[in-house]
Amino acid sequence: MKRHPALVSISMEHHRSLLLAKHCKVAAASGDATRIQRQVEEILQQRDLWARHFHKEEQCLFEPARALEPVLVARLLREHEQMLDWVARMQAGEHQWLQAFGELLGEHTRVEERRLLPALESLSEADLQFMGRCLEDETGEHDQP
Ligand SMILES: [Fe+2]
Ligand SMILES: [Fe+2]
Repeated sequence: MKRHPALVSISMEHHRSLLLAKHCKVAAASGDATRIQRQVEEILQQRDLWARHFHKEEQCLFEPARALEPVLVARLLREHEQMLDWVARMQAGEHQWLQAFGELLGEHTRVEERRLLPALESLSEADLQFMGRCLEDETGEHDQP
């Protein structure tokens, strides 16, 4: 699917999210404690990356989407909180949440790609450019030294 240029960076991050989701599900299904441990460690190592991804979505995309898809946005926000909660539990040693985390991350990301981003692409060019600048600012690409 062709993405508006303002939303390409978030879509590229979604490819990485889908890959991580798949790895989580495979590791959880293996039942291999070492493999599960390694996968949980990978999630924790990447924590800043995807915590920033959630933050960018909430700051730059959920606000403009709220008027178009209020129920969807409320659901996506709840899912961010749920995933953060599971990660905190896994950090505390509760590795049994890996399967649920992988499943929700995959489903959540697919819904964003199939429903959230297309809804935003129906907005005006000016709105989309505003979102694009917001995403860049939240990434820190325009920070001056
Ligand atoms: Fe999200
Ligand atoms: Fe996302």
